[in-house]
Amino acid sequence: MDRSVTIAGMGYVGLTMAACLAERGVKTVGIDVDRNRLALLSKGETTIYEPHLKDMIRKNLVSGNLSFIEDYKVLQESNVTFITVGTPSKTDDSIDLEQVRIASESIGKELKTKRDYHLVVVRSTVVPGTSENMIKELISQNSGKTCSKDFGLCMNPEFLREGSAVQDMMKPDRIIMGESDKKAGSMLEEFYNKIYSTHMPKVFRTSLETAEMIKYVNNAFLATKISFINSIAHLCERTPRTDINIVAEGLGLDPRISPSFLRAGLGWGGSCFPKDLRSFLTFAQSQNIELPVISAAMKVNDIQPILAVEKAKEFLNDLKEKCIAILGLAFKPNTDDVREAVSLKIINKLLDEGAYVRAYDPAAIENSKKMFGDQVFFAKSAQECIKGSDCCIIVTEWDEFKTLHPDDFRKNMRRPFVIDGRRIYEPKEFSDNMEYYGIGIGKD
Ligand code: UGA
Repeated sequence: MDRSVTIAGMGYVGLTMAACLAERGVKTVGIDVDRNRLALLSKGETTIYEPHLKDMIRKNLVSGNLSFIEDYKVLQESNVTFITVGTPSKTDDSIDLEQVRIASESIGKELKTKRDYHLVVVRSTVVPGTSENMIKELISQNSGKTCSKDFGLCMNPEFLREGSAVQDMMKPDRIIMGESDKKAGSMLEEFYNKIYSTHMPKVFRTSLETAEMIKYVNNAFLATKISFINSIAHLCERTPRTDINIVAEGLGLDPRISPSFLRAGLGWGGSCFPKDLRSFLTFAQSQNIELPVISAAMKVNDIQPILAVEKAKEFLNDLKEKCIAILGLAFKPNTDDVREAVSLKIINKLLDEGAYVRAYDPAAIENSKKMFGDQVFFAKSAQECIKGSDCCIIVTEWDEFKTLHPDDFRKNMRRPFVIDGRRIYEPKEFSDNMEYYGIGIGKD
């Protein structure tokens, strides 16, 4: 694969992929319809906070391996195009495929005048059937070309976690690949072989629809695992001498279960799990199938953040005019992303109850200000955030918060009470020194 690779959609998946491929020596062109974003990226500025990403973009802009452009004409110079555009939820919770439609049509129009075979790889999360019934059709209609002859189609879901997306792209642990035909799949496998060479992970080749299904099921299973452990945490709180962390540790020793994604807390958020579970349920309903386990996982997750507010209320009797400190706004550490973050649900509920909210996050304050403006006081440090407060809720487990000691809370807070929503503190060290509530700890 000597010519350049094009990637349509410069969101966090497309951009991370573009920077990583360029870093591996592939001439990569990122396409986006948003001119402001392109202008920023071409100057080496990013629209998202992702460790290592900005440095890699800057380095590869200079080396010439990476460039950004608006026009799909660049497809003429490449033999593979990845589709990484967004697939948000519509108001009825079904998947919004508008960006996928525009990208597919644009690719088709460009392929019309292209003589060589071209491989199109869908990386966006799309409901089963979309690649075969929509993307393939739109490319064929707009190009007048035939799939499996003039162009190939693969569905290659991404498993990039925000905050470690670069690492996940550089060293994936598996590659799931749906293919329209053997030639398309083999071309993509060969491409990845060159990229990863001796670190090539296991490749799992399947139909387009199966690959689409695997992506949703993967996210749905992980979210269900978290909701499962979160509901058991409630039972632990009523069961003396149990602790959800120890229960999860013991459970995770079973290799059939694994210890990952068993961290109990205030629930899951972000730009993927909530949206993907909603789209998947809507898709299942359209096939007259109920997925009660997934519906239950969502239900548990709706209630989970509110528990922290109820605990605060229980301790303070009434939240009206009480000052509540929120440590952590991002939906998880190492990102500035607050989309569907647990913090939003908690803050909204606290404001409804008439509380004053002070908040701090190492990266997500700017994004949170856009939602709350001056309804919330945004502090410049964790210490400033907890000053004078009646209760502090740990919402995101940033490393920075783990270094706080009971004394920091005792000296700064009006009423030292910590709700450890992510279990970052040693329970005994805190409960010996102050009021402390940690998710999933049974009283002695
Ligand atoms: C998730 C998947 O992990 C990726 O594989 C996938 O590619 C991505 O969605 C996507 O579909 O694009 P991400 O949303 O970045 O990645 O975040 P995760 O690390 O999976 O965390 C999701 C949420 O679960 C966070 O709010 C986190 O705090 C929470 N979580 C995670 C828990 O509450 N407990 C755990 O044990 C693990």
